[in-house]
Amino acid sequence: MSKRTIVAMPGDGIGKVVLDETIKVLNAAGFEADYVEGDIGWEFWRSEGNPLPQRTIDLLAKHKIALFGAITSKPKDEAFEELAPELKEKGLVYSSPIVGLRQHFGLDICARPTKSYNGNPLNFIRRGADGGIEEPNVDAVIFRQNTEGLYGGVEWTDPEKQVYDAFMTHPKFKQNFGNVPKDEVSISTRIFSKNATERILRAAFEHAKEYNYPSVTLCEKPNVIRETSGMMYKMALKMQAADYPNIDLWNTNIDAQMMWLTKNPENYGVIVAGNMFGDIISDGFAGLIGGLGFACSAQMSSEGIAVFEPTHGSAPKYADFETSIVNPIAMVESACMMLDYIDEKEISAKIRKAVADVISEGKVRTYDMMKMTGRPDVIEKGAASTVEMADAIIAKL
Ligand code: NAI
Ligand code: MG
Repeated sequence: MSKRTIVAMPGDGIGKVVLDETIKVLNAAGFEADYVEGDIGWEFWRSEGNPLPQRTIDLLAKHKIALFGAITSKPKDEAFEELAPELKEKGLVYSSPIVGLRQHFGLDICARPTKSYNGNPLNFIRRGADGGIEEPNVDAVIFRQNTEGLYGGVEWTDPEKQVYDAFMTHPKFKQNFGNVPKDEVSISTRIFSKNATERILRAAFEHAKEYNYPSVTLCEKPNVIRETSGMMYKMALKMQAADYPNIDLWNTNIDAQMMWLTKNPENYGVIVAGNMFGDIISDGFAGLIGGLGFACSAQMSSEGIAVFEPTHGSAPKYADFETSIVNPIAMVESACMMLDYIDEKEISAKIRKAVADVISEGKVRTYDMMKMTGRPDVIEKGAASTVEMADAIIAKL
């Protein structure tokens, strides 16, 4: 079989080091691939006026699978200030290349697994009924609809008259906002389409089926947000009854779910939600298993294009340290999701076991695992560097 080509998009800041170290781990685990570098991020905004150059889109269209580090985003005005002088007259407006990728390729399914590792000092603990300490085993995978809902970008401030008039035809708008001057109204919409809702629900149920999770939890708010959450709930009920009779469908409201997050996180398996609630709940669960150093994700399209990335950003505060201190595990775990996706499950299992061994042994820990403040001196205080953590994982392989 010919070798696979993976698009490696380091992006900005710590994206580069975590991706480099992850590729080292992949090589050591015996994953054979060629990596082509995809340009993305701040550097390309500054020098070319486009943080997602067409050549990167072409690369991904060709090779389909990408590993992505992280990018830096800044507010519009600051972005303009940093543009190369010759680009300043061109009327360019900065927009996030991640959102750009999602929209261009229709990466509508986002999966964010959160699984606690034995011996991770950052694992969530709570007091049990007998006063003792309990450490629940968290193993939840959040399926977040990635392109629609509140992040769909359909919004207005001081909407044009046609739009405003259309809203005024809705009795609730008229009743609640009809007296507010038009130029004092801001509207952000939450639009769900049947097709995309069906796809995210299907992905969640299929994952539960493949990995033997007993339940799928729909985490929305259908009692209040009747149309969008309501449609999703009805579709989930129908899908479960028709195709997944052996998997329980639970229905929780996002607010209650945030309370249950610390009360009984071990009871949840696959969770599925719209864009914003999925974003919230996945960060909530990530906090229980160690936070940004451990939170991985996959974004997938219906066309077999997929981008695997840690949830964290470019951490500019730490990007220029002489010795990099950040935890590469979130990126390594994202690469394991890639391996699962392309059916290299033996290699991903091997890497996950190596990560688990390093964590449970407890000898090599990055600064976040030692609950230190991220500063260059954490290394002299005994924290492992990014490279040392990757090397420790490789040694276990
Ligand atoms: P961030 O995730 O980059 O960093 C926040 C803090 O989390 C860091 O200061 C550090 O204390 C910790 N952290 C992050 N990654 C870590 C790791 N691997 N190991 C240990 N600790 C880690 O978020 P922040 O500071 O809000 O944003 C920085 C830049 O990143 C911004 O320009 C933002 O727009 C961008 N960003 C990009 C994302 C992406 O590329 N997917 C996601 C989130 C933010
Ligand atoms: Mg988020």
